[in-house]
Amino acid sequence: MFVFKAAVVGAGTMGGEIAQVIASAGIPVVLKDVDQKFVDAGLEKAREVTQGQIGKLVKKGKLEESQAADKVAETLDLITGTLSYEDFGDVDFVIEAVPEKMEIKHAVFEELDASTPGHAILASNTSGLSISEIADATSRPDKVVGFHFFWPASYMRLIEVIEGEETSSETMQAAANFAQAIKKMPVRCAECPGFVVNRILGSLASEIWRYQDESGLDVKDIDKAITDAGLAPMGPFFLSDMTGLDTTLKVAKDLKAAYGDERFYVHSTMEQLVAEGNLGQKTGKGFYEHGN
Ligand SMILES: NC(=O)c1ccc[n+]([C@@H]2O[C@H](COP(=O)([O-])OP(=O)(O)OC[C@H]3O[C@@H](n4cnc5c(N)ncnc54)[C@H](O)[C@@H]3O)[C@@H](O)[C@H]2O)c1
Repeated sequence: MFVFKAAVVGAGTMGGEIAQVIASAGIPVVLKDVDQKFVDAGLEKAREVTQGQIGKLVKKGKLEESQAADKVAETLDLITGTLSYEDFGDVDFVIEAVPEKMEIKHAVFEELDASTPGHAILASNTSGLSISEIADATSRPDKVVGFHFFWPASYMRLIEVIEGEETSSETMQAAANFAQAIKKMPVRCAECPGFVVNRILGSLASEIWRYQDESGLDVKDIDKAITDAGLAPMGPFFLSDMTGLDTTLKVAKDLKAAYGDERFYVHSTMEQLVAEGNLGQKTGKGFYEHGN
């Protein structure tokens, strides 16, 4: 199946960049959210990323400076921000990127089932929820698939393609093909809480979160020790701020519930910050202050 037009639902931390990835592969994409301010923020993110990428091409001498503005506009013109499903009547592939809560996913998939053509594939960017359960909200579970990007979506190449109980082999193949069309690397995953990457990352981060709670060491010192040692480009506390503390906390709780306290841990200060509405970079404050 060829994807002539795509859509992304949810223009938050992930959605804006996912739309940018699709547009920069030359495919028109609709970006939907529930409030114009989130749509605008998603479009702004797409602009920022595109300008950065085109700027790099100019620096490397691969593009004339005089062509840069047109190139940026060419990509951004392919993204249509919207608050409605009006433009979803001819989409071939939809990626849902709304908050990690089953009730919100169900509401969105029910709406998508009603507003997209029957052949359209409905994909979820969920970090670890059951694809089969998400698909229950639709009349086409064979066309529902997990399509899990990693933050930052414009940079990270991997996409986990997750097979639900009823996902057809045609859908799995079409999703893998679409991942390649947008210049990403698909890996096929069976359905289980956290899939592959978040199980590995989550168990690693859990030990550090547990140690911080037990020792009371400054989170910034821990992050610095990790980056100074060259173990990762950023420490787990800064990374959680960037990916969103609400999302990270939900994933951590789901992993702990699925695999037990021995293997996964929920960090106490992260719980406190989320309860206070401090979700990291997207709200301006988390473990760190962020100048938004
Ligand atoms: N943040 C990450 O690093 C990351 C990485 C991979 C996957 N994910 C997954 O991607 C999904 C989105 O995460 P995020 O971090 O972008 O969340 P986010 O909170 O930053 O953004 C979610 C967006 O969805 C919008 N939204 C809520 N209800 C909606 C609806 N009914 N219709 C349209 N839009 C709606 C919100 O207004 C918000 O802009 C989650 O399932 C998450 O687990 C997140």
